[in-house]
Amino acid sequence: MRKIDRRNFIKKSGAVLAASALPLSLVEVAFGKDNPQNFTFAYISDSHITHIKGNEFVRNWDRGLIRAVAETNLMDPRPDFVFYGGDIAQLGKKEEIDHGLEILSGLRDKTYYVMGEHDYYLDLGEYWRKQLGPDHYSFDHKGVHFVVLNSILTFDEWMYDKWSSGKERMGQMARLDNPQGSPFMVGQAQRDWLQKDLGKVSKDTPVVVLSHSPLQKIYKGWNFWTDDAEQVQAMLKPFDKVTVLYGHVHQIQTNQIGNISFHAAMATAWPWPYPSTFSQQESFLPKLTVEMNRADPFFERDATGWQFINMATGDVAVNYQLPDNQNRTVAYDSKLGHPVDKQFQAADKRIPPQNNY
Ligand SMILES: [Fe+2]
Ligand SMILES: [Fe+2]
Repeated sequence: MRKIDRRNFIKKSGAVLAASALPLSLVEVAFGKDNPQNFTFAYISDSHITHIKGNEFVRNWDRGLIRAVAETNLMDPRPDFVFYGGDIAQLGKKEEIDHGLEILSGLRDKTYYVMGEHDYYLDLGEYWRKQLGPDHYSFDHKGVHFVVLNSILTFDEWMYDKWSSGKERMGQMARLDNPQGSPFMVGQAQRDWLQKDLGKVSKDTPVVVLSHSPLQKIYKGWNFWTDDAEQVQAMLKPFDKVTVLYGHVHQIQTNQIGNISFHAAMATAWPWPYPSTFSQQESFLPKLTVEMNRADPFFERDATGWQFINMATGDVAVNYQLPDNQNRTVAYDSKLGHPVDKQFQAADKRIPPQNNY
């Protein structure tokens, strides 16, 4: 990406953002200097549309999604398409999925969908699939191979045998701390499909994978976790440039494992706190290279912003505009081999994390 282009891009997007902090991300795929193949796509996630009764829905969550749709339609440069990262619904109800999709139908661009656990565990994704089609698929766009996975499956016994109703099953998975829950996974069938799908892709093709849960193990207690993450990572290892984008965690996370860059999307509904601020359960690998620095994770519009990613070189520059918090840039450091937080990397510059529960 030429410097001037990037500056213009930031300026343009920043102008839109100055008026309102966006709960969405704009991702730019850049192939290098003067390459006409450069393109952008937008990324909206985790709206958690919540049905009350009749035609009443929780207003805050409606507003977050309505705003994201409106702002996406105003974006400059125009995104080629939009990804929706999962959790349209809060409890998987038809009313919630319908209402969410009605709001999302306002998008001017083609939209691709990822399955979230809140969309899935009431009826095991039946209504979602009826409305939106398969929950895993791939396509090519301007030289990039995109793969969408349903990463929120779990063991058959848990799904089919343990609960007296879908509602009860959904209720267990809908919690942040879900002691009766079960770890998410991509599962054997999709891993076989993925192996076949990637077999047709040359190793120098940039690969972008979208999942709902992180395809890395962060914190099992909250299911910031995919049980077969290592097996999926192993399939992605032979490729030169891989980027994994995910939702679910409702917070900024950036990480690098070997050739794979990981970036979480922010939610339109609410931010979650960081697992590191809680101590009931051991936190697992990987240690995040960058996590957001904030004292109050329950500030309503915290953890919202946008990001710019240059995938051509493997370099990643993510620009976050954070209301009532200092803007930050997370950029790839080629000497260290992973992204670093340019403003806050030094431990003594960090705001102490919230420490309660
Ligand atoms: Fe979510
Ligand atoms: Fe989720």
